[in-house]
Amino acid sequence: MNAPIPTGTVPRHIAVIMDGNGRWAARRKRPRAIGHRAGARTVNLCIDFCLERGVGVLTLFAFSSENWGRPDEEVGALMKLFLGALDREVGELHRRGVRLRFIGERGRFSDAIRGRMAAAERLTAGNTRLTLAVAASYGGRQDIAQAARSLAEDVAAGRLRPDQIDEAALGARVALADLPAPDLFIRTGGDLRISNFLLWQLAYTELWFTETLWPELGVAELEQALQVYASRERRFGLTGEQIAFAQDAPPGEGHP
Ligand code: FPP
Repeated sequence: MNAPIPTGTVPRHIAVIMDGNGRWAARRKRPRAIGHRAGARTVNLCIDFCLERGVGVLTLFAFSSENWGRPDEEVGALMKLFLGALDREVGELHRRGVRLRFIGERGRFSDAIRGRMAAAERLTAGNTRLTLAVAASYGGRQDIAQAARSLAEDVAAGRLRPDQIDEAALGARVALADLPAPDLFIRTGGDLRISNFLLWQLAYTELWFTETLWPELGVAELEQALQVYASRERRFGLTGEQIAFAQDAPPGEGHP
């Protein structure tokens, strides 16, 4: 039994790289698509976990800009899985108070998938228990580039001066800018990389990695990730003393 996590230290936003589906299937001498299907079950487990623990935002890296380069058969299987999940799961997610969002270049998906993404976002727009952001055809560099392009367009149109471009202005135009940045990043499958996921948004995120393959991730390990998160001191570039002082001070006073 894990020790209870002190209140106030549950991450508001967890971002996940769900890695290891292919290896999970290979170990069973099954096609990679079977691994992705098994991975979809862990997605449901992870959503349940966030709903139970009061995590406000869960962002899942479902398909990277680079994943289009995988063999046609695997890309096709993933598209079928996404379409099936959109058809089967959205109603239940809506009933449970989940708001769905999709980030990435959705123009690259079929009309059928795009239509269901838009319908799911419309249906669930008013939900507040959990925001589930699915990164699909997403790349962090591409995200930053589109934010820069949008700023450049405003400058060219005379709506913005170059000296008004700062971190806040760019940060307001990357994906998920309206949500708190991820507090905790989880990557399964043993690799210690960010792999072009949420590059801007992860600047001060706590990173947690596990060797466990995504289809085998369970609640006990998610609890462990939350325990590790709760034990970390987040300094945001300040000193430990400054952080302790800010936490002890009454609200509105003494924040460095
Ligand atoms: C990475 O594992 C995983 C993916 C590229 C796809 C993730 C998709 C799912 C978990 C399916 C369901 C998702 C939703 C949102 C319905 P990998 O194939 O790179 O594994 P490997 O490193 O072992 O080869």
